[in-house]
Amino acid sequence: MFRALVAAIHRSDIPHVYTDGQRVYTANLAPGVAVYGERLVTQDGVEYRTWDPRRSKLAALVRKGVGVFPFRRRTDVLYLGAAQGTTVSHLSDICVEGTIYSVEVSRRAFQKLFEISERRPNIMPILGDAGAPEAYLRIVGPVEALYQDVAQRDQVDIFRKNLRFLRPEGVGILIVKARSVDVAAKPKDVYAEVRRDLSTANVDVLEMTELDPFAKDHAAFVVEKH
Ligand SMILES: C[S@@+](CC[C@H](N)C(=O)[O-])C[C@H]1O[C@@H](n2cnc3c(N)ncnc32)[C@H](O)[C@@H]1O
Repeated sequence: MFRALVAAIHRSDIPHVYTDGQRVYTANLAPGVAVYGERLVTQDGVEYRTWDPRRSKLAALVRKGVGVFPFRRRTDVLYLGAAQGTTVSHLSDICVEGTIYSVEVSRRAFQKLFEISERRPNIMPILGDAGAPEAYLRIVGPVEALYQDVAQRDQVDIFRKNLRFLRPEGVGILIVKARSVDVAAKPKDVYAEVRRDLSTANVDVLEMTELDPFAKDHAAFVVEKH
């Protein structure tokens, strides 16, 4: 009886992302180990990790519906604002044969990120300031995907500075926290300003998705580099 109520996990429309029809999952690259308390579910010999849209804005974007999802098995990613590695760990499940260059400025968060990378060889943790990318110029190679979630006032400026690492036709995802830009402004006005700023960068905006209700007053801009 109970088994009949549990929906089977199967492939979603997005490569390497799985679903039971409601929740989303990635296949655990480090079986037996949860990164942030997420639920582990084994089915047909594969261990899946629930991907929590309230903890990861990329999962929120997946749940809201994303047209362009640039992460594949061999994708190299530059990730800015890696924090303790919550979203990075799911990208590590997806981009199994790629490298996720993961930049984090806070030493405290970096410590946890570093611990996670010890079990996940495709994560390269970098303690550094994404606003000063010259410091990791020699470490980070050209990447197919750039992801940024730094929750800073100058987030578009930081994103622009890091576009140099993205290959032409590579895809960038910029997570904008409206309140980090201007606490008093309406989020929609902040998003319009970000769109204007991006129009002067070397990219086309492909999609913009508000992440409510999973992440209040946040939006994801998906762009392609010229
Ligand atoms: C909202 S949290 C990121 C959450 C993470 N992306 C996730 O989904 O697992 C923002 C992170 O960006 C980091 N950050 C802020 N400014 C930064 C900068 N200039 N360079 C690198 N990291 C930065 C903060 O220390 C914080 O850990």
